[in-house]
Amino acid sequence: MTEPTGPSTARMIDFWLGGSDHFPVDVAAARAFEQAYGPCAPVFRSLRAFLGRAVRHIADAGVDGFLVFGAGVPTRGNVHEVVPDASVLYTDVDPVAVRIGQEMLAGRERVGYGFGDATDPGSVDAGLRKRFLPGWDDRPVGVVFLGLAAFLDDDTLARTLDELYEAVAPGSRLAIDFDTEELAGYPQALAMMGPAFRMRPPESFAGLLGRWQPTGDGIVPVARWRPDGTPEQVPDAFYGAVAVKPAG
Ligand SMILES: C[S@@+](CC[C@H](N)C(=O)[O-])C[C@H]1O[C@@H](n2cnc3c(N)ncnc32)[C@H](O)[C@@H]1O
Repeated sequence: MTEPTGPSTARMIDFWLGGSDHFPVDVAAARAFEQAYGPCAPVFRSLRAFLGRAVRHIADAGVDGFLVFGAGVPTRGNVHEVVPDASVLYTDVDPVAVRIGQEMLAGRERVGYGFGDATDPGSVDAGLRKRFLPGWDDRPVGVVFLGLAAFLDDDTLARTLDELYEAVAPGSRLAIDFDTEELAGYPQALAMMGPAFRMRPPESFAGLLGRWQPTGDGIVPVARWRPDGTPEQVPDAFYGAVAVKPAG
C-alpha cells in the first residue's frame, strides 16, 4: 500500500497497541507525541480493554450486531475479536483506514468495513448495512463510538447521538468515550491534536448523551468501568459509558 503523506491517530493507536498496521509517518508522530506527553501505550491499552468489556457486556445483553464508527484499524482486541459470533460493520471516514480494514477482513462472512461518517448515519452504505446488520430495522444493535467524540463539537455530537438514538431499535446500546482535560497540562501535545480536538470536563458528558441512558455503571474513567480486576493505573484521559435506548 502507498505510504500516506500524513499520520493518523488511528494508526498511531495501532502502533501503541503493538500492531503492525501503521507507517513510518505514524511512528514518527507517535514518538513526537510521547515526547510531549509521556508514555501512551498503557493509556490506549486501557481504552482498548474498555472496548472489550463494553462490547462483551452488550453481547451478554443479547445483542449480536455491531456498527462501529471511527473504527480506525480493526485489530488488537477490536469488536469482532471480542465477540467472534457477532456480525460487525466497521466504518470510518478515512479512506486509508477503510482500505486497510477491507484488506484485513476480506473474505469474512459476518465482518465488513466501509465508509461511514458518524455525523451522518445515512452515509453508511445501505447494501453493507443490510448485509452485515440484517436486523438493523427491528433488532437491537450495539453502536461503538470510541475515539470520536473529541473530534466533534458539542452541537454536532449531541445531534449525531440523537439521530443514532432515533435510527436504532429499542434495546440498542451505545459504547462511547469522551476525552477529559488531561492534555491541558501538555500544551505541545495538545497542539498536535489539531484545532478540531475538544477536551471536556466530566460534568458535561451526561448532557451530551441526550436520550441515551447510561447503565448503572455510570460515566466513569474507562479503567474503572466494570474492571475485570484491579483497574489499570493510568491517567483519567478518557471517560466511558455504555448507554441504552430502553425497550418499550
Ligand atoms: C482517535 S481515532 C480512534 C480509532 C478507533 N476507534 C480506536 O479507538 O482505536 C479516530 C478515528 O475516527 C475517524 N473519524 C474522525 N471523524 C470521523 C467522522 N466524522 N466519522 C467517522 N469517523 C471519523 C478517524 O478517521 C479515525 O480513524
